[in-house]
Amino acid sequence: MTAPMPPASAFAAAAAAVHIRPLVAADAVAYKALRDEALRTAPDAFTSDYAASVGRPAKEYAVRFGTLESGVFFLGAFNAAGQLLGCVGCEREQRAKQRHCATVVGMMVAPTAQRRGIGQQLVAACVLAARHVPGLTQLVLTVTASNTHVVQLYEQAGFHAWGLLPRAVVVDGVGYDKLHMLLLLTSDPFPACRSK
Ligand SMILES: CC(C)(COP(=O)(O)OP(=O)(O)OC[C@H]1O[C@@H](n2cnc3c(N)ncnc32)[C@H](O)[C@@H]1OP(=O)(O)O)[C@@H](O)C(=O)NCCC(=O)NCCS
Repeated sequence: MTAPMPPASAFAAAAAAVHIRPLVAADAVAYKALRDEALRTAPDAFTSDYAASVGRPAKEYAVRFGTLESGVFFLGAFNAAGQLLGCVGCEREQRAKQRHCATVVGMMVAPTAQRRGIGQQLVAACVLAARHVPGLTQLVLTVTASNTHVVQLYEQAGFHAWGLLPRAVVVDGVGYDKLHMLLLLTSDPFPACRSK
């Protein structure tokens, strides 16, 4: 049985200096600014690239924001002035055979706000929200293997690596390996079926 969805205040309580809540359409402009800056300053961390993204209208991103209940959502970390400092997304698979699975995407904190624990709080809030989505039993993600501090951040949140895709992305002629990581959301994800 899945527990009821936590109220938005649960995320605020988990965050010390920031308020974490789901992004809504009105946040699209701030999200695009944060995303463009992250793609520009950390090109090896993302599959999307700055040149192809900077011209996209902000409103195109609003469809990604979804709802907590659906398992397709984005969480944003805001400071006291309401400025978006970081975000993380959860994209649940839609096909029947894969709906137990969601991918953590778009994890980023503004360069000026990094190293203050915001990334850690965002991942924790994302995992907490995912645990309350009925039928969702595992989270996966990929992370550039050489970004060891980001790998550690995910490990601290309970993810473990299960594979490595060599040269998953090439940036300015340099290949970067992507580590594939998994977090089981329940101790017994499939009581009625076996892995085969
Ligand atoms: C990854 C990212 C979101 C982390 O956000 P953050 O708010 O800086 O992370 P936190 O402050 O919560 O740090 C979490 C841990 O990582 C460590 N860490 C964070 N940035 C680090 C860095 N540049 N170098 C070394 N360690 C770092 C912190 O020390 C902390 O560990 P600790 O608390 O045990 O000491 C942020 O660095 C970022 O946006 N990077 C560029 C985009 C990116 O790589 N996204 C991930 C895609 S998979």
